[in-house]
Amino acid sequence: MRIDAARVVLARHRQAGAPCLFLLRDMSSRSQMQANALGATEILSADASVAELLDKVGAMLAPSAQPAVPAELRHRFVAASAALSDLIGAAETGARLPRKTLDESIEALNRAADGGDLNAWLDMVWRHDDATYQHCLLVSGLAAAFAQRLGFREADRRLIAEAAVLHDIGKARIPLDILRKPESLSPAERQVMRRHPEIGHDMLLAQGGFAPVVLAAVLSHHEYLDGSGYPHGLGDGDIPDTVRIITICDVYAALIERRSYKPPMPPGDAYAALIAMGGKLDRDLVRVFGEVVLDSEIIRLGRYGKPVLKRSAGHAA
Ligand SMILES: [Fe+2]
Ligand SMILES: [Fe+2]
Repeated sequence: MRIDAARVVLARHRQAGAPCLFLLRDMSSRSQMQANALGATEILSADASVAELLDKVGAMLAPSAQPAVPAELRHRFVAASAALSDLIGAAETGARLPRKTLDESIEALNRAADGGDLNAWLDMVWRHDDATYQHCLLVSGLAAAFAQRLGFREADRRLIAEAAVLHDIGKARIPLDILRKPESLSPAERQVMRRHPEIGHDMLLAQGGFAPVVLAAVLSHHEYLDGSGYPHGLGDGDIPDTVRIITICDVYAALIERRSYKPPMPPGDAYAALIAMGGKLDRDLVRVFGEVVLDSEIIRLGRYGKPVLKRSAGHAA
């Protein structure tokens, strides 16, 4: 495959940590996703003017205000991105989801979580333009960090990461004019969009070989403990922990993402919004999730030279 061949050729440069500007003849989301999967630092249309090209290269060569992402983490991010690109591509065409690719993404996510640098992961996620793709990488990174913080054993961490990678796989079958609509969806379009959990669940069920907790997370990640979610309005007793974990990551991710119809919410505000959801989410899990996302935010403030907040016993997470 040409993408695989390009991956091999570029791997040598990835090792050296060189930034890569991709010039695309086709600026479709699919092409941009593939460029990102190959490790593009920046993407520009091949029709861009010389001035635009020089501006972009200049910006890439300028010393970054942000600390460089460690090469090992960048490699894991590229591996997870490449795997996700292949999985979404397979789901779009109705092909079987490649198990080996899924396992590679799970391994990359969990080893990245071991590194403990959630912010560096988020920084790389924001460079991706495709909203669905960005969202999956974001939820996956958060879920892997969350499972690690919860002290889960490796087998459970693998299941959580798998559930996160696949949670929105049903969106691959939602019409693109709805999936990528820049404005808010109409009620009818929202109904179509709300079918993605069942579509994804049916897809995995038809293929076979997926763990029950993964199937449950794909089907029920929009359910709330108070019964107000969809597609089945399940209640507290019917929603397993794996699903609760993915739901918390999913809601938080949606809040901090930038969309054409809404600005991104700062991490502290997004976490406050989770708390404000009260009985919809698992309170104990939300408290631990706060340690994951707020600790990493405190580390970020420290990196940028602003005062580092001291945690004390009196501070609620
Ligand atoms: Fe979803
Ligand atoms: Fe989602």
